[in-house]
Amino acid sequence: MKHEPQHLFEQASPAVMADKELMISLSNVQKWYGDYHALRDINFDVYKGERIVVCGPSGSGKSTMIRCINRLEEHHKGQILVEGIELNDNLENLEQVRCEVGMVFQHFNLFPHMSVLENLILAPTIVRKMPVKEATELAMMYLERVHMVAKAHSYPGQLSGGQQQRIAIARALCMKPRIMLFDEPTSALDPEMVKEVLEVMVELANDGMTMVCVTHEMGFAKTVADRVVFMDQGQIIEENNPEDFFAHPQHERTRDFLSQVLSH
Ligand SMILES: Nc1ncnc2c1ncn2[C@@H]1O[C@H](COP(=O)(O)OP(=O)(O)O)[C@@H](O)[C@H]1O
Ligand SMILES: [Mg+2]
Repeated sequence: MKHEPQHLFEQASPAVMADKELMISLSNVQKWYGDYHALRDINFDVYKGERIVVCGPSGSGKSTMIRCINRLEEHHKGQILVEGIELNDNLENLEQVRCEVGMVFQHFNLFPHMSVLENLILAPTIVRKMPVKEATELAMMYLERVHMVAKAHSYPGQLSGGQQQRIAIARALCMKPRIMLFDEPTSALDPEMVKEVLEVMVELANDGMTMVCVTHEMGFAKTVADRVVFMDQGQIIEENNPEDFFAHPQHERTRDFLSQVLSH
């Protein structure tokens, strides 16, 4: 494995599951792209404070599944509930869910013509109708949290990939989400920048954020995840706590995948 920053994660503590509040629930979810059956009967629950890592080969449906959780993609069959709100054609439901769910992508998607601070206050002022002063204070607080206060007035193009991704995380947090989804947040980064982004994610995990992370950073999965979910060909093949997932993968496909990602 390229990055094995185990020491990074020593402070990660198990999620508190006492209240077992169901945050995300997918039941019998199916999705097609044209004729292509991209999600095949997905059943998947996430409780408050859980940290889930989703892994699997390219094209297995990982992005499709997490994008369905805030309806960036529509599912065709089955049911998706986010904090008990059903995702369907009801736009009010969608708006409510989008306010609760923050998302971080592989490519940071910051607006290049806006400063870091302007990027951060955009959604809170427009979507949440927050006064600029309050949104700015909030933005500075989250910049502090991702250790980027000094770059508040820089433009994205002046920042490294790792710094831009930390800004993208701060931007998502400015909407005060109760759930954070990450879709391969470190896979477009140079290796030396992966650590700084993972550190920010570990800090978030330690704060009790409910997180679903698609990532191939198996060091992160081993030490931070409460559960690892393995997908292949549009299905969840197996899921388990990280110790058992890595020590005793049940399926041939999981073993093949792990031998590939853990061997380099
Ligand atoms: N917008 C789309 N239109 C058609 N096919 C798509 C689209 N998005 C994804 N797919 C296909 O669906 C499958 C799953 O894709 P994706 O969820 O992106 O996989 P992963 O994130 O695991 O790499 C792939 O075969 C991909 O080519
Ligand atoms: Mg993907």
